[in-house]
Amino acid sequence: MAVDATAHAPERTMDVALKIWRFDSSTGERELADYEVAAPEWVTLLDVLDLIKDQVDGSLAYRKSCRMMICGSCGMRMDGGAVLACKVRMYDIAKAGHVPVISAMGNLPIVKDLVVDMEPFWAKFKAMKPWLQPGYDQPEPNQEHVISQERMNVIHKESLCINCGCCVSECNSMESDPEFLGPQALAKGMRFVGDPRDAAKVERLDAYSSEHGIWDCTRCYFCNERCPKGVDPRDAIAKLGAEAMAAGIDEDMGAKHANWFVTSAKTTGWLRETELVPKTQGVVSSIKQMKFAMGLAVKGKVPPPIPPHVAEGVKESRALFDLVKQQGRGGALGIVQGERALSRLEHEVGHASGGGGDQGVGSRDQADITPGEEPTRKRGGE
Ligand code: SF4
Ligand code: SF4
Ligand code: FES
Repeated sequence: MAVDATAHAPERTMDVALKIWRFDSSTGERELADYEVAAPEWVTLLDVLDLIKDQVDGSLAYRKSCRMMICGSCGMRMDGGAVLACKVRMYDIAKAGHVPVISAMGNLPIVKDLVVDMEPFWAKFKAMKPWLQPGYDQPEPNQEHVISQERMNVIHKESLCINCGCCVSECNSMESDPEFLGPQALAKGMRFVGDPRDAAKVERLDAYSSEHGIWDCTRCYFCNERCPKGVDPRDAIAKLGAEAMAAGIDEDMGAKHANWFVTSAKTTGWLRETELVPKTQGVVSSIKQMKFAMGLAVKGKVPPPIPPHVAEGVKESRALFDLVKQQGRGGALGIVQGERALSRLEHEVGHASGGGGDQGVGSRDQADITPGEEPTRKRGGE
């Protein structure tokens, strides 16, 4: 019988150091504490926290449950960017001699150390009515309600969300407006808007398009970068915007702004910037800004609106518009191609450690929204 010589080999260990922002909400005291432990080479950030709690300081507070990127409990920040602690391998970080700084997620109140109060997060989640609203045709008795793969592809990515909050932690818009619904809630909203069994699509789009909704996103794309599951919440918000406009829900300034981009491109091949403000904000608001506009015009910063500047290649722009229309790519199916092109850009996530380096690249190899299309990038290569 063959003997496995490595079966009882001693486990290889390494020294892992962390700096952790400790916080006590009862006193308001904050302290950056240093820790170092010997750990097996296979450990994740979560394992290291467990070792610290076990061997060094039992009062360290953080959340965890599944340890395998499923429950969404262990969201926190490493070197300023949100990560799932159970996803980050520590080997390369420790071997490079890097000492990462660990802190609680952003945009949520800290309760203790790395534990945040998730109540505002769940309140927004519930506001999306995250359940199927009845109204669809009932299947025959003893039959399932079968939905084609093609239809489900539209919400494939949104269905992967584990409610970890990493996207919310990094959201620029939430930082300036805590009432903004945010990337996680809106991605959840798209999961139901795109579900062919749901009968409340228009009501949902109406609600999500109101103040603090879809159009308040600043398109910083940090949520796409940081989502550990490849949900790409910003893309979900773009889909919601496109679906809302396709349904004629375009009263918000953001929707009017987007509509004017389309009209400009179709009619002249350029963005008709001079008309952008009146078309977006209305005549009264534009008149109030007339003095500012005149100042810009004097400095030659505003082209005269008449006659409109028509691009040489305007026919191409119009043909493109007609083609998209012919293909029936209105709503979500029409917009995501452009959004996804951005995800192909290589982002340096900016961790000296490299620990969170693969966060948020899921968009490259997730199934595409476009029915029947191949992923933009196959796993393991181009
Ligand atoms: S893209 Fe929008 S939703 Fe996503 S993090 Fe930026 S502001 Fe927030
Ligand atoms: S969208 Fe991604 S980052 Fe945001 S809660 Fe869901 S899984 Fe987490
Ligand atoms: S412990 Fe469940 S996702 Fe990390």
